[in-house]
Amino acid sequence: MTISGAARLAGIMGWPVAHSRSPALHGFWLAANGIDGAYVPLPVRPQHLEQALRALPVLGFRGCNLTIPHKHAALSIVDRVEPLARRIGAVNTIVVGSDGSLEGRNTDAFGFYQSLRAAASDWSAKAGPATILGAGGAARAVVAALADAGVGEIRIVNRTLTRAQAVATDIATPQTSITIHKWDEAGAALRDAGLLVNTTSLGMAGEPALTLDLSVLPRSAPVVDIVYVPLETDLLANARRRGHPVVDGLGMLLHQGRPGFEAWFGTPVEATSELRASILATLAPPR
Ligand code: ATR
Repeated sequence: MTISGAARLAGIMGWPVAHSRSPALHGFWLAANGIDGAYVPLPVRPQHLEQALRALPVLGFRGCNLTIPHKHAALSIVDRVEPLARRIGAVNTIVVGSDGSLEGRNTDAFGFYQSLRAAASDWSAKAGPATILGAGGAARAVVAALADAGVGEIRIVNRTLTRAQAVATDIATPQTSITIHKWDEAGAALRDAGLLVNTTSLGMAGEPALTLDLSVLPRSAPVVDIVYVPLETDLLANARRRGHPVVDGLGMLLHQGRPGFEAWFGTPVEATSELRASILATLAPPR
């Protein structure tokens, strides 16, 4: 698609960044909406992050996404941090203001919640305790989304308990009780749960498998895996066989991009089945 000299600009900063699907994602929406704009990969070394972010307004960029390893470091560089991003401890979206200032936002919680609602429409925040595997950056966004949606009890299961404790302390709200559980007690933490979410890297291509006995998890509880390579992890295959609603990790990737796109390019967008098919094609192993 051709762009004019007045094209709106955005991109993704990461190191490395070549693996990112965000250019394909935003490129799909730009083309589908006939927008005069471009979204480009921006390979930025960690030591150059501040320089690169400050260059955004100078270069006329509307903003950018951030990926590994920049999400935490950006908190102390931008001019304003949205409260949710501060609570999660990570910025994944930067919006350049009309005065050239930088605002840091986090859209991962939104992305997780929207993908859950879209793929498991019968689930509600009142369905019972939510069990979260993992306590990294992704877990923090998931726990914030669920606490803000009104889930009354969240159980965090993690190999390193101190990290789980830090998530509980940082993300807690008065309405939600957050408990922490040892990794070898994961099975027991599924009892009477209304939702299970894997946020660990287990089950990802090249990582060890996630083996978990789901027998005490009620069959009405959706099982979510935020891993999307492979799309159908062993956890999801096992959950599907048992009759649970399953939610794969691609939805979160698609939905988290929506708020940034709207802020930069001025048009609201959806995570349609056509978009999903288009991004799925980029995940297929080369033949
Ligand atoms: P992200 O930002 O994507 O969430 P991360 O911060 O590296 O990534 O977190 C990875 C999560 O996977 C952590 O919860 C990690 O557990 P620890 O906090 O104990 O490191 C979990 N994880 C990774 N490998 C694991 C393994 N072999 N067994 C159990 N948990 C594992």
